[in-house]
Amino acid sequence: MADYILEAENLSYIYPDGTQALKGLYLRIPRSQKTAVLGSNGAGKSTLFLHFNGILKPKSGTVKFNGNNVSYDRRSLLELRKNVGIVFQDPDSQLFSASVYQEISFGPLNLGLTEKTVRDRVERAMTATGINELKDKPTHMLSYGQKKRVTIADILAMEPQVLICDEPTAWLDPKHAKQTLQLFDKIIQNGTTVVLSTHDVDLAYSWADYVFIMSDGRVIGEGVPDKVFSDDALLRNADLDRPWLVDVHDLLIKKGCIPPKATLPRNKEELFEKILYHGICTGEQ
Ligand SMILES: Nc1ncnc2c1ncn2[C@@H]1O[C@H](COP(=O)(O)OP(=O)(O)O)[C@@H](O)[C@H]1O
Ligand SMILES: [Mg+2]
Repeated sequence: MADYILEAENLSYIYPDGTQALKGLYLRIPRSQKTAVLGSNGAGKSTLFLHFNGILKPKSGTVKFNGNNVSYDRRSLLELRKNVGIVFQDPDSQLFSASVYQEISFGPLNLGLTEKTVRDRVERAMTATGINELKDKPTHMLSYGQKKRVTIADILAMEPQVLICDEPTAWLDPKHAKQTLQLFDKIIQNGTTVVLSTHDVDLAYSWADYVFIMSDGRVIGEGVPDKVFSDDALLRNADLDRPWLVDVHDLLIKKGCIPPKATLPRNKEELFEKILYHGICTGEQ
């Protein structure tokens, strides 16, 4: 099996109104990891994602899934969409069934699975996203955050090899944003690849195993979070700020509170540990 589940080679795309959204973009998404595509608004993240399951067809360049070029005939696209599930940024563009249960069962029913298998998959997806109590609710009556969780359950019930989520935490309250990221951590454990797009540097920094930085239709940097977020010039070029954890960590080193060259803390807890272990603060009251 190829090491990379999705690849884009020299990918270009122009919208009908003439906007060139992708400009010869290269990227390879590692299998079974948490990948974040980070970029400010208009960088081309959503356009890129729409190429991953063939909703958009490149003007030039290629998209590969599991090492094979994507084909755009009906049968190949159906097969691709079974394996590459996309959760759109706006849940209203994805929901179309009457009730939550019907909505989530629609995809698996279309795969020709038995009724029992469909039921099991829908139940599992509802449990994973914490929406069991919404089962019989009409989808148009849900709150934005609830709709978002239903769209994630929609895709989970398809059991794709890769789950792609466009700005998954935008408009979610902190509690549900955290739950969604924890859910992705769980999904990864079954070997599913999770790819998300975000303009939130703090989210990409603390969540991802691997990060691509996009700007103006291209990937202008990539790597593990430690590397990418230590590169100030790269962040500046992409119109992105440094994650607050990196800023605070730097300041603590400058002020002599913790030794230089220490590895970067990935979350608040790791930062506190460093301060207590190395720092001038003893933790005593
Ligand atoms: N349907 C569309 N028609 C014309 N231009 C579009 C369309 N969708 C996006 N664009 C443009 O393409 C560029 C990339 O947009 P997008 O992929 O949505 O970026 P991101 O998701 O990173 O915010 C932007 O300049 C945006 O205005
Ligand atoms: Mg977008």
